[in-house]
Amino acid sequence: MNVAVMGYGTVGSGVVEIINKRDLGLDVKYILDLRDFPGDENASKFTKDFNDILTDDTVKIVIETMGGQTPAFDFVSKCLAAGKHVVTSNKELVAEKGLELITLAKENNVNFMFEASVGGGIPIIRPLTFCLKANNIRSINGILNGTTNFILTKMIRENMSFADALKIAQDNGYAEKDPTADVEGHDACRKICILSALAFGNHVYPKNVHCEGITKIALEDVAYAASIGASIKLIGTAEDRGNGQLYIVVSPAIVMAESQLSSVSDVFNAVLVNGDATDEVLFFGKGAGKLPTASAVVADALDCMEHDNNRRPIFWGPEKPELIMDYQEIPNKYYIRLKGADKDAICAAFAGATFLEGATDDIAFISNEVTENEARAKVSTISNAELCSLIRVARC
Ligand code: HSE
Repeated sequence: MNVAVMGYGTVGSGVVEIINKRDLGLDVKYILDLRDFPGDENASKFTKDFNDILTDDTVKIVIETMGGQTPAFDFVSKCLAAGKHVVTSNKELVAEKGLELITLAKENNVNFMFEASVGGGIPIIRPLTFCLKANNIRSINGILNGTTNFILTKMIRENMSFADALKIAQDNGYAEKDPTADVEGHDACRKICILSALAFGNHVYPKNVHCEGITKIALEDVAYAASIGASIKLIGTAEDRGNGQLYIVVSPAIVMAESQLSSVSDVFNAVLVNGDATDEVLFFGKGAGKLPTASAVVADALDCMEHDNNRRPIFWGPEKPELIMDYQEIPNKYYIRLKGADKDAICAAFAGATFLEGATDDIAFISNEVTENEARAKVSTISNAELCSLIRVARC
């Protein structure tokens, strides 16, 4: 079956490489990219004109690996409306426009598939949609961004600077075109939105989810966490609060040694799904990079080929922003580092605080469960205390 690949970057070139190498029944007829690739072995397939793909009825499956919303949304919409299946690795597109695109796919009796949009090479979209369907999902906690996990691992294990670690992540093709999306948590946020829509049934837009990145993490915090065998990781959390509401947040979190996520390092991602029938199920693998991500894309294309005349029922409903709780009102344990405070005053404000050992004069401790608003209010009652860090303790 003929496919077209739109976008010949890290993922798109990996997709073409796998399809060319493996006898899977897929043939790449077009590669759409505005750039030139002199000497590339696929020279005869390049086009700069999207209409070559749109108007060619022999192209049944279109693979979108351009990233971003423009022109991806326009191109993908037109392909679906023209009766072509579309496979994408583009999490921004799915998180922002997924509802419109799955609706358009349904109306045109074609498939819109996006396994590679979360967790790179890890199968998670299909398992969540099909294999775990018998469950009410209680929670999802995940390390969802390979670049930040790689950077944090290098900082923790090799004392490497943030900038040097980011450069290696970029050289390896892990980072987004603008790595701000990685380090400020936007990429992980898009992914937890997609997982939330699948798990809880309504579209979740990134603008409604609180999102913090890793740029404010200090090496002191890494060292204090290490003193109790814990590490700091960027975690996406989505939790059914049992009152019809959801708690969804992306932020750095202290991951205790006993957590299933504690040993997930480098570019690896992991998604821990807690279902009411299964309890915890862990999905683990490379969350970014050329071939791992291309693996998920090509599998989707094969699924489209095998279901050419019947749809894969991946669907969710419109957003209900009122379902998302105010993240500041959810009780959680917090890691807190203060300058200029004394322990007695901290104990008076935070009953049951567990103090951590570190090499600085700051005082760091883990609080009992409090809301973020309460934690900040308590800190403000401690005389001379300057708040240096306030980091959630992971809920898994
Ligand atoms: N920039 C992303 C990451 C790519 O580092 O996880 C995979 O989605």
